[in-house]
Amino acid sequence: MRLAILSRSLKAYSTRRLKEAALDRGMDVKVLDTLKFAIDLKRGAPDLYFRQKQLRSYDAVLPRIGASITYYGTAVVRQFQEMDVFCANTAHGIANSRDKLRSLQILARHHIGIPETTFVRDKKDVLPAIERVGGAPVIIKLIEGTQGIGVLLAETVKTAESIIELLQSQKQNILIQKFVAESRGKDIRAFVVGDRVVASMRRVAQGQEFRSNVHRGGIAEPVDLPEDYVEAAIRATQIMGLRVAGVDMLESATGPQIMEINSSPGLEGIETCTQLDVAGAIIDYIAAQVDFPEIDVRQRLTVSKGYGVSEIYVPEGSEYVGKQLSDTDLSEKDLNVLTLYRGHKVIPNPKMSRVLEPDDKLLCFGKLEAMKGMIPAKTRRRRRPVVQDLPDTPVTQTETSEDG
Ligand SMILES: Nc1ncnc2c1ncn2[C@@H]1O[C@H](COP(=O)(O)OP(=O)(O)O)[C@@H](O)[C@H]1O
Ligand SMILES: [Mg+2]
Repeated sequence: MRLAILSRSLKAYSTRRLKEAALDRGMDVKVLDTLKFAIDLKRGAPDLYFRQKQLRSYDAVLPRIGASITYYGTAVVRQFQEMDVFCANTAHGIANSRDKLRSLQILARHHIGIPETTFVRDKKDVLPAIERVGGAPVIIKLIEGTQGIGVLLAETVKTAESIIELLQSQKQNILIQKFVAESRGKDIRAFVVGDRVVASMRRVAQGQEFRSNVHRGGIAEPVDLPEDYVEAAIRATQIMGLRVAGVDMLESATGPQIMEINSSPGLEGIETCTQLDVAGAIIDYIAAQVDFPEIDVRQRLTVSKGYGVSEIYVPEGSEYVGKQLSDTDLSEKDLNVLTLYRGHKVIPNPKMSRVLEPDDKLLCFGKLEAMKGMIPAKTRRRRRPVVQDLPDTPVTQTETSEDG
């Protein structure tokens, strides 16, 4: 098997360990500098050049894309995907993980624990936003920060307001987030590979510091994760579209709260702390998955007109409740059930003998027309009605909306 590790730092601990693990398993492995690729596009033939030579074929790619080269790095990964090479993390997953706002937006609808967070732009929205997440002390976070650098704790509302004003005046996008006080100075890093947590540690900040990043002096200890933490980490990774990820969680009074998901998690800290072979676990996983390159289902489905994937909701009182899947009219309507969602449970390829319950959701493939009227009510309809007349927004022409 031929494996390419995309990395800018040949000598970094993580790159060395991954290469070693691949060699140990008899793979033909190369570490390729992500910025030395050229991406060529022409009809029917996406291609890649590396150091001015056409790239040889690879079976799998393990991207290690640093935050400073996300755009170019994800473009290279996407090109490998379009060439049907298995990528341990997809371009889409990497891009999602790089933006703390985008990650939380995606996770929030899936009922995964996250710290309450708001994102505002208008000055008038700042104070109400701070109040909605529980008031001071409050966390202020740069959307694309790493290593704890862009995370601040404001002790009072006044300080928070002035920090936010300052950052916004510098054109920084920031999140206002509830300070999870009971987790002060601690967090959990779960290392997910595929559908397993292969190693985990707790990082503990030293002294007065509230940030537990190792780069801020945090000290790591191995930890045996309770099942709810394991499950949250794996689900979050999958929802983000990743397969190899370092999931950072706070230990809140109500269980795990996910802060961020790293798509190129470092190996040194976690391997040293746990003495586990995380690099080996990643390489073994790739070897097992290599025959299944990512398929963008939505992209492929556009070919079959009128067909698609949709979710069908089974409300209380529906004629489906209490029936076996085989006794419903789904197959008559030419609908295939791909997955059944029941509360927190996910049941892939459910058996035809399975009996439906109220509140089940069925992910189906078939004629979209046949699924009309069966899709779940939009979440926003469940919200309490807000009675308020909104004034027209006065148009202030201080900024143009043009790109560029
Ligand atoms: N909402 C919060 N409540 C309490 N501590 C937090 C919160 N958000 C972040 N922290 C602390 O700050 C650290 C860095 O935050 P994080 O969002 O992971 O940013 P970075 O990408 O810079 O690591 C975390 O590891 C945690 O210790
Ligand atoms: Mg972090």
